[in-house]
Amino acid sequence: MKNIVEQYCELPKSVRKPLWSFWHKLILKLDKEQKTVFLNYGYASPNGEFKDLVISPEEEADRYSIQLYHRVTKNHDFANTHVLEVGSGRGGGASFLTRTFKPASYTAIDLAQKTIDFCNEHHKVPNLKFLKGDAENLTFENEKFDAVVNVESARCYPNIDVFFKEVMRVLKPGGKFLYADMIKKEELPKIEGLLAKTGFKTIDKTDIRENVVLALKKDSEARKKDIDGRVPKLIRTSFYEFAGVEGSDRYKSFESSEMQYWSFTLQK
Ligand SMILES: C[S@@+](CC[C@H](N)C(=O)[O-])C[C@H]1O[C@@H](n2cnc3c(N)ncnc32)[C@H](O)[C@@H]1O
Repeated sequence: MKNIVEQYCELPKSVRKPLWSFWHKLILKLDKEQKTVFLNYGYASPNGEFKDLVISPEEEADRYSIQLYHRVTKNHDFANTHVLEVGSGRGGGASFLTRTFKPASYTAIDLAQKTIDFCNEHHKVPNLKFLKGDAENLTFENEKFDAVVNVESARCYPNIDVFFKEVMRVLKPGGKFLYADMIKKEELPKIEGLLAKTGFKTIDKTDIRENVVLALKKDSEARKKDIDGRVPKLIRTSFYEFAGVEGSDRYKSFESSEMQYWSFTLQK
């Protein structure tokens, strides 16, 4: 199973979405205390970038994942805007952004109905709702949103070009696409080419790989302890891989910069 996690993007397109649903079911089963609300690698900064970020003591365990959402959305003023998140996972990012920046509405979609049910139960925040939905077939009218957020989700969509076109369609003119993901060095020109071909203007693009590595370094022990406490031994290495703990192939690929991690602010 470790190989499936590591090589997920190389798997046939038809099995990728069902595998995510399987993975979500497994997490729901293992996360009995319902502690897991983020599924990303996080972002740390050595230069006091987040000294003004106030989070509750309960959120401290998710600090780096929260910082990633904060970093990726920093060029958007949320006040009075309607926001869509695609691939919201267990909803921690959607909850943090809605509570902190108070958009007029925040709609978050993901593939697995049971995870959507978990999110609607767990994150009760005014103006935030979770819906089942597919990145490649957004069920929203044209020009509905001021911003679309997408964190660590798009890389393995079977047809990423279709997703970019859907984002373009549902954004209002001038709307922002706040997009971050790991991208292999050699795949970057293709992704940037597709974004340009779809019609996005690049406002900002930064390789935040070093910040992601730092976050993983700082968080590895906690991630490993958490996994060891909850996941049966037989499948632990798959979870280490998924969580990017130090020593995993994913961690090594970031450290060697074979894998980069890009944060984009794009505009329609
Ligand atoms: C690595 S997780 C990141 C979740 C969340 N953004 C976070 O940072 O915690 C990737 C998420 O993308 C979702 N996903 C994958 N393919 C999708 C698709 N075609 N449409 C919507 N969501 C998708 C998965 O179900 C998963 O929840």
